[in-house]
Amino acid sequence: MTRVHIQDLSIRFGNHEVIKGLDLDVHGGEFLVLLGPSGCGKSTLLHTIAGLNPVSGGSIHIGERDATHAEPSQRGVGMVFQSYALYPTMTVKENLAFPLKMARMPKAELEKRVAAAAEMLQLGPLLDRRPGQLSGGQRQRVAIGRAVVREAKVLLLDEPLSNLDAKLRTDLRRELKTLHGRLGNTMIYVTHDQVEAMTLATRIVVMHQGVIQQIGTPAEVYEKPKNLRVAGFVGSPAINRIEGRVGEGGLFVSPALTLPLPTALASRPQGEALTLAVRPENLRLGAGQPFAAEIQLVEPLGNQHVVWMSSAGTTVSAVLPGQPAVEDGARVAFGFDAAKALWFDADGERIEA
Ligand SMILES: Nc1ncnc2c1ncn2[C@@H]1O[C@H](COP(=O)(O)OP(=O)(O)OP(=O)(O)O)[C@@H](O)[C@H]1O
Ligand SMILES: [Mg+2]
Repeated sequence: MTRVHIQDLSIRFGNHEVIKGLDLDVHGGEFLVLLGPSGCGKSTLLHTIAGLNPVSGGSIHIGERDATHAEPSQRGVGMVFQSYALYPTMTVKENLAFPLKMARMPKAELEKRVAAAAEMLQLGPLLDRRPGQLSGGQRQRVAIGRAVVREAKVLLLDEPLSNLDAKLRTDLRRELKTLHGRLGNTMIYVTHDQVEAMTLATRIVVMHQGVIQQIGTPAEVYEKPKNLRVAGFVGSPAINRIEGRVGEGGLFVSPALTLPLPTALASRPQGEALTLAVRPENLRLGAGQPFAAEIQLVEPLGNQHVVWMSSAGTTVSAVLPGQPAVEDGARVAFGFDAAKALWFDADGERIEA
């Protein structure tokens, strides 16, 4: 299994440094997901690993080889682009076979590989069709198949599901995970969809403006975000943020609520700015809860609903099971389990509480 080792990598377009001194060790056989907002440099990083962008500084090793300046075809990587990039005049079978033909593979071996990829991606009945005669999901499966036939040790995928509708995305997401289980190769997968990241990744890399914010398992990134950027980017609806200060007597004081600080924070200097953050699914509503709010909007989602509330000017959301039993404009009481709260300092770094 092939590891990808990136050291002190920078990538510049003119004066614009898109990737800044990035270190990343992709383990052999892992499903690594690059997650981050639009423009943070995900595609740039992926294209650079594939050899499609010149490197401004640092190095990239693929397996034991220094691939920093290697030709794309010499890197042993396969790439699936966001746009399918299929050849419109070729059939599915010819599309799958094309990279192998270019590599002058003997016909028998070529046929075997194409048949195996077609079976794995359930393309058998479609082999004689042209891309124009396929649905979006089928086209994307062909694009993945074309990367798979080469049996690349490292597969790079740039938002391969982003053009598909919700149902197909979910189906293909499962297929991709199964495919990875069967191939056992190293996958580096770019997305800005955090559900995809959470469900597919062995580890997630959260990026912001060309800098890695955190690398961790989906659970680590979700439950122990390193800073407010990560906390805010992972999870939907976004984590609730309540700005306040350290008050007298070990209290956290904000316009929306006042509560005792956890023991680990109780000795922090009075007046220090802190942010309390709570995931929407950790909020409770109902009589007996300590804080007051007014409901602004209720969004039913079938199996659950989101309640958007305002508490002294701070917007707070709660995700609750089942159908809504509250109405817009109503006064409610809300609360949460203090053990589930996250705390951040004035620089947005999480404080272990
Ligand atoms: N060839 C290029 N020349 C100049 N600037 C570029 C080039 N390619 C990308 N950039 C810039 O680099 C930054 C990162 O772009 P990139 O495509 O890597 O973002 P991304 O994270 O993939 O975003 P998205 O989620 O929207 O696809 C952007 O500011 C973009 O404008
Ligand atoms: Mg991109």
